[in-house]
Amino acid sequence: MEIPDFHNPDTYVDAAPHEAFAHLRQHEPVRWQDIPNDSGYWMVLRHTDVVHVAREPKIFSAELGGVVVETMEPAQLASMRNMLLAMDPPRHTAWRRNIAPHFKARVIGQLEGRVREITRDILARGKDMGEVDFVHDVCAHLPSNVMGEIMGIPAEDRPQIHQWAEQQASGQDPEINPDNYQTVGSDASMAMAVYAIEHARLRRERRASGDDSNPDLTDLVMAAEVEGRSMTDVDFGSFFVQLVTAGNDTTRTMLAGGTLALLQHPETLAELRENPSLIPAAVEEILRWANPLHYFRRTTTQDTQVAGQPIKAGEKVAMIYTSANRDETVFEDPDRFDIHRSPNPHLSFGIGTHFCLGVHLARLEGRVFFEELLNTFSDIELIGQPRRTRSNLNNSLKELPLRLAA
Ligand code: HEM
Repeated sequence: MEIPDFHNPDTYVDAAPHEAFAHLRQHEPVRWQDIPNDSGYWMVLRHTDVVHVAREPKIFSAELGGVVVETMEPAQLASMRNMLLAMDPPRHTAWRRNIAPHFKARVIGQLEGRVREITRDILARGKDMGEVDFVHDVCAHLPSNVMGEIMGIPAEDRPQIHQWAEQQASGQDPEINPDNYQTVGSDASMAMAVYAIEHARLRRERRASGDDSNPDLTDLVMAAEVEGRSMTDVDFGSFFVQLVTAGNDTTRTMLAGGTLALLQHPETLAELRENPSLIPAAVEEILRWANPLHYFRRTTTQDTQVAGQPIKAGEKVAMIYTSANRDETVFEDPDRFDIHRSPNPHLSFGIGTHFCLGVHLARLEGRVFFEELLNTFSDIELIGQPRRTRSNLNNSLKELPLRLAA
């Protein structure tokens, strides 16, 4: 069969290349892919091998070269290394240990009421519009508003955060980013970091002046110790940017991709309307079937091998979640959208050392969103062609024209 160029973002415009992945899982489960004018990378396609790479951070480093397959400029890489995503143990362990308690299921569960109110407001606006581009008019507003809420960002500043978050996403698509992906994305990140540093400074001032109103996530994160010292305002700036970066496009995609999956499977949609307690399982299947990220990368620290394929020290290795989630040795009839899969060990949140810190928040947003969506609209109709983002990283929709009726 003809194997596409997996690095070329055009390969993903019509659909993810599932057939080619399935073929390679059988015949070449670790495959070399070139990148024009850059060093190429190994694609790891089977579930078990992705798990292996993710669980061995000493051999497969996130810090050495970052998590995307393109070689980054040194300055960009240095700034990425301020994020958990691109730290290796023991530094990663030290940071994550102090922050993780604030993202536990029980803590995040307390946000349900606010997440629901925000969701209702967003859907009410969609209802007034009637015909919407569901991706930008509806889904995109949930993660940026929830993040603004939990970080205590003043309401008047949230549209700006939303705009920066939108600029960061999906930079390989010339329609979204006609100039240059690197610049637009990093300018937005920089502006967001500057904003967050100022937010931290004002918060410290407020606390110093004796204001002891309920602490929010900003206060809790700022109080965390990192590498044996207290977090600085600049540390906080990077942390804030990483939360918005990691949680925005991914959550929006789960909501938009999930809605499209339900429209394509009307029997499942009807089943969920009948029995909303199935929604959490549906969210997991949405994540497996329409995983928001195609891959994350590591760099080998030593000569090693994956599934018998020798890999030299310093080479790039991409964990292809889009393939691992359809591995027929783990998922029966993997191309079928089936909300009754149990267990459903998809890898859409990664696994091991860097397992998604925001997993409980993402799941909460997913469950509440679909509960409210089905409650609010008795009729959801596709009124145009959905369009996918041109990207080898973001497995996302850039347009989903819908008519929403109560
Ligand atoms: C459906 C939504 C989401 C998906 C599919 C997703 C996916 C992922 C994946 C695949 C990783 C692993 C990275 C790796 O192994 O290199 C990850 C890590 C991470 N995610 Fe998420 N994520 C989502 C939502 C969120 C949200 C809402 C937040 C913020 C609250 C968040 C914050 C993070 C952070 C901070 C990390 C880095 C963790 C670490 O390196 O220890 N994510 N996410």
